[in-house]
Amino acid sequence: MITAAAAAAGAAAAGPAYASTGGASGKERAVTEHAVKEHFGTLADGTKVDRWTIENGRTRLSVLSYGGVVQTLEIPDRHGHRANVSLGFADLDAYVASSPYFGALIGRYGNRIARGTFTLDGKAYQLPVNDGPNSLHGGDKGFDKRVWTVEPFRKGPDVGLTLRRVSPDGEMGYPGALTVRVDYTLTAAGDFRIDYEATTDKATVVNLTNHTYYNLAGEGSGSIYDHRLQIAASRYTPVDKTLIPTGELAKVAGTPFDFRRAKEIGRDIREAHQQVLYGQGIDHNFALDKGLTRRPEHIVTVTEPESGRVMKIATTEPGVQFYTGNFLTGTFAGTSGQVYRQGDGFCLETQHFPDSPNQPSFPSTVLRPGDTYRSTTVHSFSTR
Ligand code: BGC
Repeated sequence: MITAAAAAAGAAAAGPAYASTGGASGKERAVTEHAVKEHFGTLADGTKVDRWTIENGRTRLSVLSYGGVVQTLEIPDRHGHRANVSLGFADLDAYVASSPYFGALIGRYGNRIARGTFTLDGKAYQLPVNDGPNSLHGGDKGFDKRVWTVEPFRKGPDVGLTLRRVSPDGEMGYPGALTVRVDYTLTAAGDFRIDYEATTDKATVVNLTNHTYYNLAGEGSGSIYDHRLQIAASRYTPVDKTLIPTGELAKVAGTPFDFRRAKEIGRDIREAHQQVLYGQGIDHNFALDKGLTRRPEHIVTVTEPESGRVMKIATTEPGVQFYTGNFLTGTFAGTSGQVYRQGDGFCLETQHFPDSPNQPSFPSTVLRPGDTYRSTTVHSFSTR
């Protein structure tokens, strides 16, 4: 499956053991039948970070052991030309220095917990506050900044990478040792599937997601406002000025948040709606009509008119955070050297609702010993 990349490296395909080569760049490189592993960089504490590349159907994916980051995701346009549709950086230092969670695996809790505190079974917990008064995306050293063990796999026609990590009891203030497994799979059709699994030894809260910023015209190609988006959600969770849900499930009807029929992402983004002002664009959780489901169900279709690329998303989760890259402010250059500005990428983070540990009316994010947290999201790619 990885023959093209392997050939480019001048490396011979090997059996289960890795064949190491110097690689074209002189970097350490190892190849299995289904995956290429390259040295990507070294952290200040000496930990080595790898980049893994897998390929299936027309899709090629590269993932970093640092933060489980989706560094590149290449899919074809209507003429069969592949482009990288995921925003990111070319080197490890940039990820460490200033990444706004590009491509990252988010945990233990995706999005915000008000004032970084919650009570579970009568006990209060304090998390690091890293976003105004709140805790965002698992605290200042969340899963996005940890190094994961990565192993390639093949299951029938599918190829993938399994990421594993045990988050110790008390890490970032969260109770319980959390054993996490995340599978990134490319199916034979080139779909990108993410399966999350976690168990704990003490009652805790969990909400895992992936923070890929997409631009279906290609990373670094400018604004995503022309993309057409449809979200199967009649309600969303309005927020206060610190972006914490008020608890209300408001109707999208008659607001800029109405994506029930496909419309351009930029169409209503300059409407002076209080919620748009709070988010500096859209940065909101949509309460999906299907709710929490055992199997992934279709929730989103995004189309980029020029390239014809279409991404459909199916998930088991009850919510999706739609974020229009509002805080990309032209302060750094991405993978291909272009500067990212506001609206140059969008995120669709499948999730339970923000601040659920403090919102009893929201679907629960509590995980107890003996139970298994499971979540699946599938991104399917086609053209029109
Ligand atoms: C949040 C945004 C935040 C972004 C990146 C999104 O999930 O909703 O408010 O700025 O992540 O930091």
